Amino acid sequence: MDATELMTGQRIVPVVVIEQVAHAVPTAQALLDGGLNAIEVTLRSDAALDAIREIARHVPGMLVGAGSVRTAQALREVKDAGARFAVSPGHTDDLLRAAEAAQLPLVPGAATPAEAMGLLDRGYGLQKLFPAEVVGGIDWLRAMAGPLPEICFFPTGGIRLPQVESYLLQPNVACIGGTWLTPASNGEIDQNGIRDRAQEALAAAPAL
Ligand code: 3PG
Repeated sequence: MDATELMTGQRIVPVVVIEQVAHAVPTAQALLDGGLNAIEVTLRSDAALDAIREIARHVPGMLVGAGSVRTAQALREVKDAGARFAVSPGHTDDLLRAAEAAQLPLVPGAATPAEAMGLLDRGYGLQKLFPAEVVGGIDWLRAMAGPLPEICFFPTGGIRLPQVESYLLQPNVACIGGTWLTPASNGEIDQNGIRDRAQEALAAAPAL
């Protein structure tokens, strides 16, 4: 199964930095309670691999993926930990080869037409646009829809609740993501707050 197929129906994918393994399951559960059933755990903390492992084991309703996956080795590690997809801010040949060899659905990043075309040639119809708001956001996506209509994007980077609706109305946007759903809160997990933010985001998403 490739990432396009796996992510079908996912409209909002929280990008989560988990600093303590103990936060992994409550965070994933709160998102699930709020109606979001995919999560991207970024490899930006020491706890990330264990967090992926815990969520894969204890929150079966959650489609757990790994984010900020930049190397072949990281890709293999997240697969071993139980990630069902990987997301990268960009891409390298090594990373693409590792994903293909491991048969792990990968959403590689692109931020220029040349990068997007290279990935499309290699079979990646779903690509991460990062950092979305910096490179042009909705205008960038609209411009790409003309010459590259086959590509769907998963924009992240600077997206917050007020932009949810407009991004998701863009026909070449499959899903969006961001860290705003799970803000750091002094070492505590605010499960109700996370659940409410997830519900708010879903309420802002236009119907499919
Ligand atoms: C990512 O890794 O996709 C970004 O950190 C998400 O960007 P944001 O923090 O602005 O939501």
